[in-house]
Amino acid sequence: MDELKVFSGTAHQELARAVTDYLKIPLGKIEVFNFSNENTFVKILENVRARDVFVIQPFCSPVNHNIMEFLIMLDAFKRSSAGRITAVIPYYAYARTDKKDQPRVPITARLLADILTAAGANRVLTVDLHAPQIQGFFNIPVDELTGLNILGDYFIQKNISNPVVVATDIGITKRARDMAAILNAPLAIMEKRRLGNADRTETLNVIGEVSGKTAITIDDEIDTGGSLSNTVNTLVGRGATEVYSCCTHAVFSGPCMERIASSPVKEVVVTNTIPLKSNPGGKVTVLSIAPLLGEAIHRIHTGKSVGALFEQQP
Ligand code: R5P
Repeated sequence: MDELKVFSGTAHQELARAVTDYLKIPLGKIEVFNFSNENTFVKILENVRARDVFVIQPFCSPVNHNIMEFLIMLDAFKRSSAGRITAVIPYYAYARTDKKDQPRVPITARLLADILTAAGANRVLTVDLHAPQIQGFFNIPVDELTGLNILGDYFIQKNISNPVVVATDIGITKRARDMAAILNAPLAIMEKRRLGNADRTETLNVIGEVSGKTAITIDDEIDTGGSLSNTVNTLVGRGATEVYSCCTHAVFSGPCMERIASSPVKEVVVTNTIPLKSNPGGKVTVLSIAPLLGEAIHRIHTGKSVGALFEQQP
C-alpha cells in the first residue's frame, strides 16, 4: 500500500491532530463546509490516488450531521481513487439500536454499517462498540480497540485502597471483569432496568460486596448520566466509602453535566473519543486515546498485527 494519509472531519480535529502528531505526519488537507442551505461540501486539497487513506470522525453531537459529513467525505475519497479507505470511528453512535427487541423498530446500527460501506469504506477502525457483535454488521474488516487499559492504568497509578469494580449493568459485565483483573480487585454488578424508550433507568439490585470499599464503576458510555447518578447513589447507600466512575465514551448529553456536578461521585474518568464540552466542578479527567489510535493506524498501514496491541490484556 502506498503512502499513509490521515484526514479529519470537523467533529474532533483535536483528536485527529494528536493522532497525526503520534504518527509524525501532517494532517491531510481537506475543505469541509456547509452552504447556507445546510448542504455539506467537501473538497480534498491534495492527491490521494492509490494512497492508504484513514478518515477520522467520531459520531458525536451533532450526530446526524457528523455522520452525513463523514459519508460525503468517504464518497469524495472513493471518487478521488484512494487506494484504500479506512473509516476511523472512535465513537460509533446508534450502537444501542442493534436489535429488533420490540415490534416495528429499525436496526440502525446495521443500517449505518451498510451506508458506510456503500459510501466507500474498505475497513473500519473503532473503539469499544456498545456491543462487540456490531462488528458482524459489516462485510468489511473491523478492528475494535478498547480504552480499558488506558482507564485501568490510570486507576493503578492512583493506587486506590480496597477497590471494587462495579459493572453499571449486566451488559458491561465482561469488560468490568477484565477491568477487575487489571486492578486485581473484586467485581460487583448493578442490576439496572431501562424504563421504556425514554432515557430513564432504575437500579434494582447490587450483586456483590461494596460496603467499606472504594467503588470504581465502569460503562462503555455515559450519556445522560442517569445510570451514573443512580449507580453512585445506590453504592453510597450500600456503604461504599468513595465512588469513582469511568467509561470510554463521554457522550454527556442533556442533563449529564448537572448530574455529575451534583452527584457524590468523586471523579469521572473518560477517554477523548468525543470532545468534552465542559467539565462540571472539575470532576472529569480525560485520558488520550490518540496514541492507541495512532499505533493501530500504523499497524494497519504496515500490515502488522493490531491484536498484538492487546495480547497482554486479559
Ligand atoms: C447502555 O446500555 C450503555 O451501556 C450505558 O449504560 C448508557 O448509554 C448510559 O446512559 P445514561 O448515561 O443516559 O444512563
